[in-house]
Amino acid sequence: MQRYPDLVHWIDVMAAEDLEIGQIVTVERQSGDVVVWRTASGRAVACAARCPHQWAHLGTAGAVDGEEIVCLSHFWRFDQEGTGSKLSAAGRRDEKGSINTFEVREHEGRLEIARND
Ligand code: FES
Repeated sequence: MQRYPDLVHWIDVMAAEDLEIGQIVTVERQSGDVVVWRTASGRAVACAARCPHQWAHLGTAGAVDGEEIVCLSHFWRFDQEGTGSKLSAAGRRDEKGSINTFEVREHEGRLEIARND
């Protein structure tokens, strides 16, 4: 699907410099909470707040691990595209359900997420 930049509506989240590496912030929306988090390499990422496994809220039950966010309820993890997986004790990565992600931009010092609903 082609996106037209002038038709994207952006939701202001916070000052970009206030989102620290490893931090997770919840954005409450009528259509469902979103969490915004910063990876170890410094990229801001936004995804749905509810884990697709058993609905834990990543704003309270999530942790950033490197470039992924991990649900601490049963350790499903999601990359920046929302692809879900779980690491076994032996290091094997098993595919799990994915989570919706949202476009993020830093604009005039503010972090904004695209409203895509
Ligand atoms: S509720 Fe998130 S991994 Fe189970």
